[in-house]
Amino acid sequence: MLDSYHFRSIILKTDIYLGAYHRIFTLLNNRHVVLITDENLASLYPHVLKLFPYIVLPAGEETKSLSRIEFVLNKLMEMKVDRDAVLLGFGGGVITDITGFVASIYKRGVSFAFLPTSLLGMVDAAIGGKNGVNFNGIKNQIGTVNQALFTWIDTSFLNTLPYLHFLNGFAELVKTSLIFSKKTWVNIQTNREIILKTKPDYLQSLIAEAVQHKMKLVEQDPYDNYHRQILNFGHSFGHVIEMTDKILHGLAVSKGMVAAIKLSVAAGYLSRNLAKEIIQEFEALGLPIDMDFKAEYFILLDQDKKQVNKNINFIFLKEIGSAMIENVDTDTLKKLAYDARSISF
Ligand SMILES: NC(=O)c1ccc[n+]([C@@H]2O[C@H](COP(=O)([O-])OP(=O)(O)OC[C@H]3O[C@@H](n4cnc5c(N)ncnc54)[C@H](O)[C@@H]3O)[C@@H](O)[C@H]2O)c1
Repeated sequence: MLDSYHFRSIILKTDIYLGAYHRIFTLLNNRHVVLITDENLASLYPHVLKLFPYIVLPAGEETKSLSRIEFVLNKLMEMKVDRDAVLLGFGGGVITDITGFVASIYKRGVSFAFLPTSLLGMVDAAIGGKNGVNFNGIKNQIGTVNQALFTWIDTSFLNTLPYLHFLNGFAELVKTSLIFSKKTWVNIQTNREIILKTKPDYLQSLIAEAVQHKMKLVEQDPYDNYHRQILNFGHSFGHVIEMTDKILHGLAVSKGMVAAIKLSVAAGYLSRNLAKEIIQEFEALGLPIDMDFKAEYFILLDQDKKQVNKNINFIFLKEIGSAMIENVDTDTLKKLAYDARSISF
């Protein structure tokens, strides 16, 4: 079992640590720290709130708004927080996205660090430097790309995470294994029973692998111009499903991955047998796999912000551990979806 891990990115000037969170004090030595969290974490972890002055926000996606940003900026002014401060985001992806954004604009930028508490935060949201809020009903429309001083992952926080939110983050872990590593995929298959008991200790090596894969890609393409888009595997349909069906991001991405897998078979990139095996494993892992290609999904795909010249950079799967980016139009996706309907999985 892995009990500590450190990824240092000299290129991005950020560190990702895994281990008991008390050790962050050595990294925050003598800095003026302000902790930003949500009300759920505040009531579950009062001992963490005792450590630093804090700002508590309502829990949930609605908090990712410009009005909340203004609220936090006002609080920071009231607290007379200066440019040497470190804002420490303690929470799930909502809190780390807000903390990174506020820190990037307050007094033209102060340092920030993350102590993620959700699995989605540990493997994705608190890694890679994308911060921001939703705007006019569209996700992540306003924000910055700016790296945290450090992200500290302490998996013991997962003990209190509701199961649905565990699955939400787990879908992103599964995604990482599918696009980067057959070894991790086999590890997940082999240890399925124990992983699903959500024992944080057994997740540490999987989290460390996911972090490493994501960070190497972010180092190559911090601003998401091309290579980083491979991480969007399952996200084209995932985003529209999240919007229309109002389900958690990771669960929508799970269905979106099933869509991408089916389209990969229809396009001739992935074998039907392998696709079947992957979808069966999703089911065994408790991830949602029902995916009908509704007409409204395609209408929303047309409006998707990731479109370039009316096309979408869609991620196809070739093998377990290997994916590719292809610029396609929505008519091609519609045709592949039509063909996929006649294939039995
Ligand atoms: N910046 C990025 O690269 C990136 C990547 C992926 C997702 N995101 C963003 O992350 C957000 C989703 O993140 P999330 O799923 O963590 O949502 P979240 O922050 O809303 O957390 C989910 C829920 O779990 C609770 N919670 C978190 N940790 C807990 C714990 N240890 N114990 C008990 N309850 C806990 C929270 O209070 C909240 O109610 C979205 O806004 C998404 O856009 C950002």
